[in-house]
Amino acid sequence: MNTTRTGMMGFGLLTAILLITGIAFAADSSAENHTVWLSGLDLSKMTAGWGKPQPDLSIQSKPLTIGGKKFDKGVGTHADSVLYVDLRGTTERFSASVGVDDEVAGQPASIRFRIIGDDQELWNSGPMKAGEPAKSVDVSVKGLKVLILSVDPTSDGVAYDHADWADARFLTAADNPRAIDPPAEPETILTPAPAPMPRINGPKVYGVRPNSPFLYRIPCTGTRPMEFAAENLPAGLSLDGKTGIVTGKIAQAGTTIAVLIAKNAQGQDRREFRIVVGDTLALTPPMGWNSWYIHYNRVTDAIMRQSADVMIASGMADFGYSYVNIDDCWMVKVNSTDPEIGGPTRDDKGRLIGNKRFPDMKAMTDYIHAKGLKAGIYISPGPRTCAGYEGSFGHEALDAKTFADWGFDFLKYDWCSYGEKAGGDKLEDFMKPYQVMYAELLKQDRDIVLNLCQYGMGDVWKWGAQVGHCWRTTGDLGLEKAGNLPGFYSIGFSNAKHFEFAKPGGWNDPDYILIGWVGSAFTGGEGEKTTLTANEQYSYMSMWSLMAAPLIFSGDMAKLDAFALNILCNAEVIDIDQDPLGKQAKILRQTDREFVLVKDLEDGSKAVGLFNLDIVSQPLAVSWQDLGLTGKQRVRDLWQQKDLGVLDGEYKTSVPRHGVSLVRLFPNL
Ligand code: GLA
Repeated sequence: MNTTRTGMMGFGLLTAILLITGIAFAADSSAENHTVWLSGLDLSKMTAGWGKPQPDLSIQSKPLTIGGKKFDKGVGTHADSVLYVDLRGTTERFSASVGVDDEVAGQPASIRFRIIGDDQELWNSGPMKAGEPAKSVDVSVKGLKVLILSVDPTSDGVAYDHADWADARFLTAADNPRAIDPPAEPETILTPAPAPMPRINGPKVYGVRPNSPFLYRIPCTGTRPMEFAAENLPAGLSLDGKTGIVTGKIAQAGTTIAVLIAKNAQGQDRREFRIVVGDTLALTPPMGWNSWYIHYNRVTDAIMRQSADVMIASGMADFGYSYVNIDDCWMVKVNSTDPEIGGPTRDDKGRLIGNKRFPDMKAMTDYIHAKGLKAGIYISPGPRTCAGYEGSFGHEALDAKTFADWGFDFLKYDWCSYGEKAGGDKLEDFMKPYQVMYAELLKQDRDIVLNLCQYGMGDVWKWGAQVGHCWRTTGDLGLEKAGNLPGFYSIGFSNAKHFEFAKPGGWNDPDYILIGWVGSAFTGGEGEKTTLTANEQYSYMSMWSLMAAPLIFSGDMAKLDAFALNILCNAEVIDIDQDPLGKQAKILRQTDREFVLVKDLEDGSKAVGLFNLDIVSQPLAVSWQDLGLTGKQRVRDLWQQKDLGVLDGEYKTSVPRHGVSLVRLFPNL
């Protein structure tokens, strides 16, 4: 660390510059210290919920003005706004006059300024409104490494939150503080590797229609070779003892409790598996992979096959992932002159034609099925899909039959371009395309799970289960942003509100798990490693599991790394998602700093997620009273798969920035 006399030199130079430019400032009494204006730091590192932070001007590039008072120096920004500053070990003080800029006078702005030093809050302005006079702050930062200057929106959202760090300056003895990126978080793998002993994972209950082809690969971790057996399988089913794949058809409606058994040299596992033959599919949320967020319009048959291979080879299938789903862009693109994707969209009988990248759909689904996995496809009820490829409008009956003939098990049915042909804003208008397609799918001789993708229109959660099995509740996750929090939070908060509508056979769908190597629909390209921090990724998967969301990964299967697999493949976390009771977590508490979800589970235990929304670590707690519990509870940390002890009254822990504590509470009988 440089603690020499460069401070003297810096002081002299700065003074000279300030004298030349005629800017007045109060020099520190100590000749050794010099001032560094906040506006002189690299403000490209400061985030803002709207606009771009401005040096010595408001966010709208006007003079900085708070409560009628003008300031020559400072930074204009907008909540949420965060800047990390490396104090270089020699910075002594930070001071500023803060407030809402007068440019939003009369508007309902409400913000809070915070100064955080090495994860401890040094100062908090409390809520500030437009028109209030500036609040002055002058704090010692001596000995601290990193300072965070944060402007929070308070609970009313970010509208009009124009925030000024007026007159903001550092006093330093030597090295100038500098703006930095948030310190990197190590990708710590919390989940222990699966034990060598067999453990049967995935759903405990499974729905199938009478006489539909049954296909189920027993998800099971543990050392191979492994032998599989089953007791009490319904008539019509048979199990391949080597692969663990169950196939056949069951004629008779009704429920059977079979027992699945897996054995290897280390031991054996047995698990009850409830097979419900009736008219309800997706008794637990579907799990799998979708091509969209990594392959977009480049998706090919080869990519789909490779992704199925990886689903097995990576072990994902051993945790219950089973659907391998193509998204948009497998059809012919309307009016395209590109020979690979252009040409006639349908054959002379009106049947859909895959583009040149999908030469033989049936061969592709056979390939996927041979591994015990399932195949999914996508189309839109309008004349064109969202990416401009052939849609189903007017061909619904034939398309449903074609998908069944091709061997698909899952259909994602979008909305794009449907409005041009039909549309309307009444409930029946929103329901119609899904009613039509669902009725056609029911006529097929195989089970096809229907995923509605219409972004929540007409309160889809209220009626989605009448016409399908899961429904997107929001817009596309990949495009969402919410201040300092990555987009999955706002999607999650919105999806969480509809908890009472989720049930076996009908699930709220907050969109895909975008971690690992993922792309953007706008930038194209081959994707990049997620920018989510390790803790954000734990939060993402925890929130989706608590919400009983479909667990569909949409990053690159070919570039899965150990950390992404650790997030996707924790059997105890997946058990929360797949719990047979099929309840979505309720929101216990939500403020701008914390989010607490609680999910009731079939065995009487509860899963609790304590989400820290703040940029500093903080203690979070849940009391038995809040949960309606009495008596001692065994508390198990699900990411670490470790009992934390038998606790009475409450569970409290320190949760890192944007992190989560996901626990399961068992009555201690
Ligand atoms: C919509 C959907 C996405 C994806 C694209 C394909 O935007 O919401 O998930 O399917 O269409 O074009």
